[in-house]
Amino acid sequence: MNQIKKVVIPVAGKGTRLLPITKTIGKTLLPIIDTPVIQYLLEEAIKAGINEALIIIGPNQTDVIDYFNTESSYVKNLNRDYKEIRTIKKIKTKINISYAIQEEPCGLGDAILKAEDFANGNDFAVILGDDVVCSNGMKHYGISCLCELYKNNPCYYLGVEEVPFELTNKYGIVKATNYDKDYFPINGIIEKPSDNPPSNMACIGRYILKNSIFEYLKNTNMGYNNELQLTDGIALALEKEEVFASKVNGVCYDVGTKLGYIEATIAFAKTRDDLKEDFDKFLEVMANS
Ligand code: UTP
Repeated sequence: MNQIKKVVIPVAGKGTRLLPITKTIGKTLLPIIDTPVIQYLLEEAIKAGINEALIIIGPNQTDVIDYFNTESSYVKNLNRDYKEIRTIKKIKTKINISYAIQEEPCGLGDAILKAEDFANGNDFAVILGDDVVCSNGMKHYGISCLCELYKNNPCYYLGVEEVPFELTNKYGIVKATNYDKDYFPINGIIEKPSDNPPSNMACIGRYILKNSIFEYLKNTNMGYNNELQLTDGIALALEKEEVFASKVNGVCYDVGTKLGYIEATIAFAKTRDDLKEDFDKFLEVMANS
């Protein structure tokens, strides 16, 4: 059986849509209630059976490394064993976390190129550092859905969802002959089309990439926004290999936008047993105000 064991999580982008906070705090460390986005992403990877993660950080993003340091003086000075710290320790026993540095934020494709040694010839998953999926109680959600498809047919898979046509210029958009099934082969992909989008099926930050992506990316020219785009590398792959798009279970939120961040916070709050009662009351008050 073909099992994806590695995930790359790029978090080294500029995050300009969430300025000013992203001036000093990377998007992936923003809290959804009390837990940073990156922790949800690692939990999603673990549920998919992945046991190795490479987080691509910028040169100054050592706060991500600090977050997962459970031997820090802060932890040592705590007067008791908090379950929240135990949770981080448990995550680290289930998934080995390593880091690579992207010197300059010159595109997602460039960030992925930093993972070539980590992949070490294997195919791998990618979870974008600012797209969080709320499972809504599903066993297989987010990247797990793509890993399941890969088990039977190991090729490229892109997580997609339908977006309003007027928002297609904000996403990588796929082209196919038939969009009816839950997953389908694609024959084109374009990053943030300014007009005439080929569909309204948008990439949502979940990918299974074959190891061949590194060669394609090395042969890809700078694209949208003068950045090396993963989308353009995948477009090259499409000329020779099978690439599928697939809907995934759960609801995806782009926490790199203000509205997406608020929506994610509300969605996750609704799933929290410890908040449920108070939060339901709060929602009622809001609805009546
Ligand atoms: P985005 O497309 O959201 O770009 O990146 P961004 O630069 O982070 O944000 P804005 O547009 O300025 O607000 C998608 C994911 O890819 C990572 C980001 O950190 C995010 O997780 N990324 C992007 C990199 O790691 N390196 C890059 O050069 C670009």
